[in-house]
Amino acid sequence: MAIEVFAPAKINLTLHVTGQRPDGYHLLDSLVVFADIGDTIRVVPAAALSLEIDGPEAVGLAAEPDNLVLRAARLLAPEQGAAITLTKRLPVASGIGGGSADAAATLRALAQLRGVALPAPEQVLALGADVPGCLGSAPVRMRGIGERLDPVPPLPAMDIVLVNPRVAVSTPTVFKSLATRDNPPMQPVLPHWQDLSDFTGWLDRQRNDLTAPAIVQQPVIADVLTALRDVGALFAAMSGSGATCFGLFPPGAMPDRTYPTLSLRHPDWWIAQGKIL
Ligand code: C5P
Repeated sequence: MAIEVFAPAKINLTLHVTGQRPDGYHLLDSLVVFADIGDTIRVVPAAALSLEIDGPEAVGLAAEPDNLVLRAARLLAPEQGAAITLTKRLPVASGIGGGSADAAATLRALAQLRGVALPAPEQVLALGADVPGCLGSAPVRMRGIGERLDPVPPLPAMDIVLVNPRVAVSTPTVFKSLATRDNPPMQPVLPHWQDLSDFTGWLDRQRNDLTAPAIVQQPVIADVLTALRDVGALFAAMSGSGATCFGLFPPGAMPDRTYPTLSLRHPDWWIAQGKIL
């Protein structure tokens, strides 16, 4: 028996840094969504634990023991084996939670394979701040350092383009170079958005506090945002600590030329288009 679980890209539509804990981790307030663009985890029963990595973004990724997929498998059951295959389509270390999504999908696949319950959000936090949110793979308001998850009002349907300019951003460095760590959170109760223009209007008044320090580290991020606006995105911003940025479009209205135009102008960038789940 094989179980396959999709590991969708995580997108921070907003990311407010609202404080810092004594251990250095930052307190966040983030509206997080997932896209139908992502990796795949496939598990089959086996005596020993193993990991194989394939797919277009597998280059340079080694199945080291500290790989998040293997750490997730050991967290669920330290002694049990499984043969795991990760098909990597999301660029690594790019602000869209690839590693966290893979860890969460591994937990879901192995829990299903073995007929056991999923661990609680606090138990999986040690794998990464985004892993609790990725376990649900549905729109969520993420607070604390990622462990406090609250439902959000229904979101309008929308399409999304993800663009990564193929530069690496160091997440700890971006957090360390923040000018201010005590920024205001989102409003206590999120509004009920009427439609996509109401929603993107609201997004225009929110922030990703990591954008400015990420652009200092990798100025090309500003070019990505401009490129997304130039192809008509209703809203464009950076996800997580970057460098991946996203553009939002009305459902089905994304002109067929969005992807070709972007990839023609920027053949060296990673570009993917899809829907918000
Ligand atoms: O938990 P994760 O591995 O995604 O975090 C990577 C690094 O980003 C952490 O070591 C920390 O420096 C920084 N970070 C933070 N506050 C968060 C999440 C991450 O300072 N809430």
